Amino acid sequence: MSDTTLTIIKPDAFGSGKAGRILAHLEQEGFEIVAARVTHLGVAEAGEFYAVHRERPFFGSLVEFMTSGRCMPIVLRRENAVAHLRRVIGATDPTEAEEGTVRAIYAESKERNAIHASDSDENAAVEVSFFFPGTDLI
Ligand code: CMP
Repeated sequence: MSDTTLTIIKPDAFGSGKAGRILAHLEQEGFEIVAARVTHLGVAEAGEFYAVHRERPFFGSLVEFMTSGRCMPIVLRRENAVAHLRRVIGATDPTEAEEGTVRAIYAESKERNAIHASDSDENAAVEVSFFFPGTDLI
């Protein structure tokens, strides 16, 4: 079980000034911020990050959304980080997300859903390296 995971505060939430509240929510859940930066993804970069979804009908729209403004990739650490963060952010679709989860509180829609979280220890390692190359965090 990895104690490190990657989250992204997406352009909908970052652009509407919700980053501080989301970070406070994550810290209250026991996550420590290990690394963070603000970036504006290009089309190639967003496409590479979401390559696993390339064949999905929503891929083009997802890339458009993720390149529509600045976002904030963050490396987080706590015990059982990957599984715990998935619980804390809630379901992809905010109408299905459990009450009190980040997406239930801050997400606008299934696509504009405020926050990303790695879905496995393997993907956490890949995603941390994607945004923070050369750092030895995992
Ligand atoms: P995320 O957890 O970052 O992983 C893939 C993203 O694609 C997801 O959050 C949503 O932003 C988006 N997504 C997933 N399913 C759909 C869908 N059915 N329609 C639109 N966007 C989606």
